[in-house]
This record gives sequence, structure tokens and C-alpha cells, in this order.
Amino acid sequence: MARTARAAIDEVSALAVYPGNPHSVHLTSIPLAAPGPHEAVVKVRQVGICGTDREIIEGKFGTPPPGSQELILGHEVFGVVEAVGSEVGNLSPGDYVSATVRRPDDCAFCQAGQPDMCQSLGYVERGIIGLHGFMAERIVDRVENLVPVPAAIASTAVLLEPLSVVEKAVRQADLIQRRMAAWQPKTAVVLGAGPIGILGTFLLRSRGLEVYTLARTPAPTPNASLVTACGAHYVSTTKTPFRELAGSLPNIDIIIEATGFGPLAFDAMDLLGNNGVLVWLSIIGGDDRSPLPYSSILRGHVLGNKVTVGSVNSSKEDFTLGVADLAKFEVLWPGLIETMITHRLELEEAAEAGIGHVIPGSVKTVIDFG
Ligand code: BGC
Ligand code: ZN
Repeated sequence: MARTARAAIDEVSALAVYPGNPHSVHLTSIPLAAPGPHEAVVKVRQVGICGTDREIIEGKFGTPPPGSQELILGHEVFGVVEAVGSEVGNLSPGDYVSATVRRPDDCAFCQAGQPDMCQSLGYVERGIIGLHGFMAERIVDRVENLVPVPAAIASTAVLLEPLSVVEKAVRQADLIQRRMAAWQPKTAVVLGAGPIGILGTFLLRSRGLEVYTLARTPAPTPNASLVTACGAHYVSTTKTPFRELAGSLPNIDIIIEATGFGPLAFDAMDLLGNNGVLVWLSIIGGDDRSPLPYSSILRGHVLGNKVTVGSVNSSKEDFTLGVADLAKFEVLWPGLIETMITHRLELEEAAEAGIGHVIPGSVKTVIDFG
């Protein structure tokens, strides 16, 4: 689709990196284009920082838009519509929104409306690959990429994007398990207690499953408190290895893996219960030489009709499910979700701090634009 360059209506401050150059976080300013007929200008309120951002900051990931040296960071956004293009009917100034991250290429899967299922991997992602992100005072996007947010969940809506990743994971599990006439999962294991693991714990708990969330660090930690506050069990793998825990649990029906630690991701294949589903969400770097229990994994998957599936990104549908679930979480555990947001930085503070490391004691750090 050819896009004609439109006149800039403003100049906005933003946080950028030079991809490939470790710790090159800096303030920049970019022209803000006037919204096209199907676009909206969004005044950004909050942008979350995640592990992917940290990888980009470390110079391991990320691509600038064509013709640019810098990439504006940020793909977890909450903001308020400021202006809309002439053809926009479903959003008005003052509406709260979040935004999806990935934009399609021309592969059949993207063209069928599922860029999160892109086959050719030629997609672009805002703030990650080939497109500027949302860590800017104002952003412009097509309204089809914006997700309306009710005022009731405004204080937690910056968590919608990471929640949507988990919504997709659980939706994949449900879709796959429709092959089982008696699929009624009862026991879940979540590997990892970072924001994705915690949101996965909330989601599975909200559906009434017994949830065991595993992480290395022994309690007490803010992460462990969030896990137990929603009625899940927090298990430190330094005290109770996953294999030992699995031996004491009923059939593990679903595992969500969000650690980025290879040996645990593959232990999960081995420890998944019969008729169970394992969703891998993390990309693993590092040691590829650890021996695997090949025959046990193979026998288990065949005789137990098990499935292991990878899942990335999320669709607009997953954001919409996330909107409903954030409201549901609030009813189940009033005030809990917002306590995930442990640190709020202004744009200038974030630029100075460099944001390339996890702030000690932080669960989710957000940039607050006020
Ligand atoms: C984002 C996803 C994205 C993935 C890979 C994650 O941090 O939440 O939307 O697809 O990174 O780039
Ligand atoms: Zn992310």
C-alpha cells in the first residue's frame, strides 16, 4: 500500500535506541504526521517496558524503520485519542485505547487477517522491527490497530499488550484441545513469574484452575506475592525442582512456559500430563547441548496424546479478551492488578536511567507521560 507523506503537525519527544548498539537509549524528537482518513492521533499516557525492550537495548534485537538509524522503543501502550481522520467513525477524541503491535506482510496468513500467524516472517512490529514504537508523546496509527479501553480499566490498561500475549496462548490451547471431548483442565503450571508468568497465572486462576507458578527466586518477592494473592501456589525451583513438584501433582493439564530457560522448557515437555498442552512463549538463548530425555518425551507425547505448541504476539481478538479479563480480575482481586506496576518513570528519567536493566524489586516498570 503506497502511503503519501503527509505534512507534520507537530514535533514530539520520544525514547529511541540505535539498534545493534548496546545501551544507546536517548531522547529524540520526531515529526508527528497529520492523521490520514483512517487514522487517529493518540496522546500516549503510559508505555510498559518488557524483556524484548531490554534485548533491543542490549543491542541483540530490533530493526529501525527503513531510512532511519534510530528505532523508537515501546510496544505496550495506553493512551487517549486526540484527533481522528475524516473517515473514522468508531473512535472519538477522549476515548481510551491500546494498540496491537504487529503489522502484516503479504503472506497468505497475514492476508487472511492473522499477522500474529505470519508464515514468511516478513512482518513489522511497532517498537521492535521496522516501525517506530509507542514511547513518544503522541503516536499515529490506523484505527483498525487500536483497541478501545473502557474507563473502568484505565489504571491497568498498559498491561493489555502483555496480557494479550497470554490470552493468545490460552486461546491456542483451547482451540487445540477442542479435539478432546472431555477437555476440562484442572491443574496448570506456569513457568516463570515475570509479568507474562504473573498475567498467565491470573488468567488461569480466573478460570478456576489450580495453578502452580514456578520461578528461581525463593519467596518473599513482589512477584511471589502477586502469585499467591490470586490463590496460586508459588514454587521456587531452587527449593523444589520442577521434576520433584510434578511428581506430587495431579495430571498437569496445561503448562505455560515463560522463562527463556531451555532446560526448563524441555522438562515441561517431559512433565506435561496426559492429554495435556504445553505452550512455549519464550525464545531461548544459550546452551543447546544439555541432554534431553528423548525417549520419555516421545513416548509421553505419543501415548498421552500431548501437544507442545509455540505462540507469539497476539491478535486484536486477544486484546479484546484482555479488556474483558482485566475487568474480571478487578472483580476477583480488587486492586491487585495495579500493584504489578511497581515503577513509574517520566520520559527524561527513563532516558537517564537507560532502562536497560530490571530495576531491583520491579515487576512492571512503565513510562508515565502524565
Ligand atoms: C511482544 C510481541 C512480539 C514479540 C516478538 C514481545 O515482547 O509482546 O508482541 O511479537 O515480542 O517481537
Ligand atoms: Zn513485549
